Amino acid sequence: MKDMMKQLKGDIRRTGFSMPEDVLGLGRGRTYFVRTYGCQANVRDGETLAGMLEQMQFTAAETQEEADVLIFNTCAVRRAAEEHVLGEIGNLKTLKRAHPDKIFALCGCMAQEEGIVDEIRRKYPQINLVFGTHNLAEFPELLKRVYEEEGQLIAVQSVPGEVVEGMPVERQRRHKAFVNIMYGCNKFCTYCIVPYTRGRERSRMMDAVLAEVRQFHAAGGREVTLLGQNVNAYGKDLQMADGFTDLLDAVAETGIDRIRFYTSHPRDYSSTTIDAMKRHENIMKSLHLPVQSGSDEVLRRMARGYTADSYRALFDDMKARIPEITFTTDLIVGFPGETDEQFEETLKLVDYCRFDSAFTFIYSPREGTPAARMEDTIPAEVKKQRLAVLNERITRYARENNEAYLSRELEVLCDGPSKKNGEVYAGYSRENKLVNFTGHNIAVGDLVRVKITDVKSYSLDGEAVQK
Ligand code: SAH
Ligand code: SF4
Ligand code: F3S
Repeated sequence: MKDMMKQLKGDIRRTGFSMPEDVLGLGRGRTYFVRTYGCQANVRDGETLAGMLEQMQFTAAETQEEADVLIFNTCAVRRAAEEHVLGEIGNLKTLKRAHPDKIFALCGCMAQEEGIVDEIRRKYPQINLVFGTHNLAEFPELLKRVYEEEGQLIAVQSVPGEVVEGMPVERQRRHKAFVNIMYGCNKFCTYCIVPYTRGRERSRMMDAVLAEVRQFHAAGGREVTLLGQNVNAYGKDLQMADGFTDLLDAVAETGIDRIRFYTSHPRDYSSTTIDAMKRHENIMKSLHLPVQSGSDEVLRRMARGYTADSYRALFDDMKARIPEITFTTDLIVGFPGETDEQFEETLKLVDYCRFDSAFTFIYSPREGTPAARMEDTIPAEVKKQRLAVLNERITRYARENNEAYLSRELEVLCDGPSKKNGEVYAGYSRENKLVNFTGHNIAVGDLVRVKITDVKSYSLDGEAVQK
């Protein structure tokens, strides 16, 4: 972990990806499946892995049981997610016995944890390959070695600092894309493992980001989501004075229909970014702005670098300048030492901001982080109770906010038939509301005007307006 702090200084290496020739036929007659957990950064990495596998001539399997190569692309942000993955890879033992030729791999953030890697070494011999988040570009070679060598191969580099351009990508969708603008995080919030699993902040060069957006747009893409743990810090490492705003302007000028970004940190938000959001019609006015807690004392111990008041001030400023803006957030309950009063402060902040929705979590201690060494005396029951109270409040505001859309027409980007009902389409509005709607001859990727006929807490129902 100390090494990690040291890496905050020093140059970032930039390299280009090239597929080794001797792996190109490796996938002939073989199938793959990538099982992805966690955040959008992981989803995007999963698409890179799929892209590499396709270049090696693997084909996608329908189910994970069928796949010749099965990859668990994991998340380490909370213990529960890790336990789920450990359960899943435990179950692979029987599958391996029946099909010894199958290759099982684990990558992503769990692979960056020493404790987890030790556990896999000791207890999960059925896993053939473990590779870290900084080893993504080596995956084709590693896979080749797995086919050639006996035993378990572990390739986890702890030193990041490389930005690799030109990796292949097999996107899950053709109309919506995740585009990395930066990797890693320097914020070191005291509860969070991400800076340790993803390394320090490294921005991609603006040209590389723009090339990816343009290429996607030219291929008929409609919406890009710019990704980073803290997008507002984009370009700081490139000595750009106002990098994220410059980037937003440039991406908006590509003419792509919709631009979103994820995630913003309240501390780095610049006023010019709000101007840019206002300036460009194709930048969506919905913002995910994690607050975590409404208590100044808890925020201080989380090392978030702002107070409840300064968060409210930022929130008010944005609402004043962009009245139609919608907000979502992340909240943690049961941070070590959180008192009833401090939890009440969180509720108060929620009452003030009336978020459109929120991801809410019970604090989960992560080994090696400062908060994991803080005394945690809150009983599990109390934490659960707080989460229930908070969720009830969040749902109430979500519902109330949605009421305002009744009878209105929204522009919806069609994602395809709804998951629940094949005769109904689903998509997201500009406000980032999930809308289920009826209509005729609508294709994935169409921008459809939908009249809202009913509202629920976390979705809207409507009918396509025929032109
Ligand atoms: N970079 C993003 C968040 C990435 S993690 C940001 O700062 O906005 C997504 C969310 O997981 C965080 O916002 C936080 O609410 C939650 N989280 C992170 N570490 C956690 C932990 N140890 N226990 C519980 N929730 C956690
Ligand atoms: Fe974690 Fe904080 Fe970085 Fe977000 S900003 S990834 S919560 S350390
Ligand atoms: Fe999880 Fe890693 Fe993302 S810990 S939230 S997959 S950066």
